[in-house]
Amino acid sequence: MPVRTLITEEQIGRGVDELARRISADYAGRNLTLIGVLTGSIILVADLMRRISLPHKLGLLQASSYRESATRPGALRINLDLLPDVAGRDVLLVDDILDTGATMARLMDEIRSRGAASVRCAVLLWKQSRTTAPIKPDYHCFDIPDEFVVGYGLDYGDEYRHLPYIGVLEGGREAQSAE
Ligand code: IMP
Ligand code: MG
Repeated sequence: MPVRTLITEEQIGRGVDELARRISADYAGRNLTLIGVLTGSIILVADLMRRISLPHKLGLLQASSYRESATRPGALRINLDLLPDVAGRDVLLVDDILDTGATMARLMDEIRSRGAASVRCAVLLWKQSRTTAPIKPDYHCFDIPDEFVVGYGLDYGDEYRHLPYIGVLEGGREAQSAE
């Protein structure tokens, strides 16, 4: 399927630089743990942690929706087997995108219930017009319209994650309403 560029590699680079600067300033003197949400966050987490100028730990968890179609979220499935001990830590959850917000809201509750000192979230993209959960990202790089996007970790049917830019899948609309 053709992909139309929405955010270039250079724009992402500048956005992640700025994100890392803000996080480095805000978490100075605190015991930061980044928690990457697999699989979509892997590229962002790898780029972000190399730019954060503070010592910090990295943990991972997995969250996915059973999907009726590749673009429609279904029931949320969470795997916390890889999660390190977060008690007393200042946790920053990192994901590719905040869409409805259901995933992030649930994950933040899970981390809070494990005794983290603080829990915030950072995402590359925010599709604010679709967010229905009572949550907004503490940090985000780009606001995007209600379009299905791929690249920089984001997938369609587990493909397109490798693209170094964010693009709109032409035909994604049709896919979205297909079910
Ligand atoms: P939410 O729970 O609705 O906020 O959905 C978050 C998850 O859905 C993200 O972690 C992504 O994996 C996936 N997702 C939402 N929108 C898109 C998109 O436009 N492209 C690819 N994946 C998406
Ligand atoms: Mg995801």
